[in-house]
Amino acid sequence: MSPMKDSDIARLMAQLQESSDSDTTTKVVTKARKSSSKRTKGSKKPNWESASLPSWFTLSKYGKQVFDELYMFINNADPVMLIGGTGLGKTAMTSAVASAIGRGSTSFNCYSGMDIASLVGLWRPNKGSIEWEHGLLTRAIIEGLVVLIEEYTRATPELKSKMFGVLDSKNRYWALPEAGIDSVPVHEGFTMVASANPAGNGYVGTMREDKASMSRFAGVIEINEPLADENKAMLNATNDKDLSDRIVRFAEILRKDPLTYISTRDMYYLATTIKSGMSAKRAVELTIAPKFEGNQETIITNARSVFEELGKEINLEESVADAIKGAN
Ligand SMILES: Nc1ncnc2c1ncn2[C@@H]1O[C@H](COP(=O)(O)OP(=O)(O)OP(=O)(O)O)[C@@H](O)[C@H]1O
Ligand SMILES: [Mg+2]
Repeated sequence: MSPMKDSDIARLMAQLQESSDSDTTTKVVTKARKSSSKRTKGSKKPNWESASLPSWFTLSKYGKQVFDELYMFINNADPVMLIGGTGLGKTAMTSAVASAIGRGSTSFNCYSGMDIASLVGLWRPNKGSIEWEHGLLTRAIIEGLVVLIEEYTRATPELKSKMFGVLDSKNRYWALPEAGIDSVPVHEGFTMVASANPAGNGYVGTMREDKASMSRFAGVIEINEPLADENKAMLNATNDKDLSDRIVRFAEILRKDPLTYISTRDMYYLATTIKSGMSAKRAVELTIAPKFEGNQETIITNARSVFEELGKEINLEESVADAIKGAN
């Protein structure tokens, strides 16, 4: 096993940039479409603005760039790896890109000791005989879905080596000796997107993945900052400009230290918890502090300064009974 070096990632990123920059002659497509049976590599210029996306889905400047890059890989059905910290929007981005292209998507998580039968398929008893039933991954391969494999680095060697056949750029195959089937037809839209959290603390692009496995990915995209436009995302979650500004400011302060780099997911839960009526201090204690062992004190201190005036203004500390009394 040799770790992927920063220089390798930088080189891949440069190649990605080059290929997206050079694709300036293709037409902007303004409508999502169903994947057709004739897939032409590089035939479409992505455009995140024209895609029909959920109303809560927003993108930061970096998010827009990643959307376009991921769109290119998925549109070409090329396998791609997303490396980045937890909760910054990899899954949300992948399903948004898949739906913008008009492809279905599915995902599963990897963990050590996982049983791959439910992914590949298994023999099941049925009315006195046994029948082969394709698993989630086999069905995705046949139907041409975009498959997000979360925590790919934790996948068992058995699954990884089995995946090699569908990760090839040409003549992709998926063998099913378990079922007595040589191989099933691989739909040309089938695309694998693997996601992985970086090894170790912080957001440095290092991970423990061997060269042969990495070389099968057409591209590696590093996600070390939020993909969402968090101002908009928090406003959408709270419908309260003051509260959403404070949450964004709180995140900015905490993120100065990699040890307290909170995610968009953390911010979202903080926002909805305060919005539901919990005091900001208690919400931070429940939704943020326990996730950053050893840094709870700093987090609470910062929360106090950022959310200080909040309760007074919108009466979050007030009980419902007091509020009713006050209204009368
Ligand atoms: N583009 C976005 N716009 C608005 N909110 C977003 C966006 N992306 C992510 N979020 C919010 O952040 C949460 C976490 O995002 P997501 O699950 O995509 O992260 P992830 O990078 O896949 O995390 P993990 O590495 O833990 O799997 C989402 O549930 C959503 O609330
Ligand atoms: Mg995810």
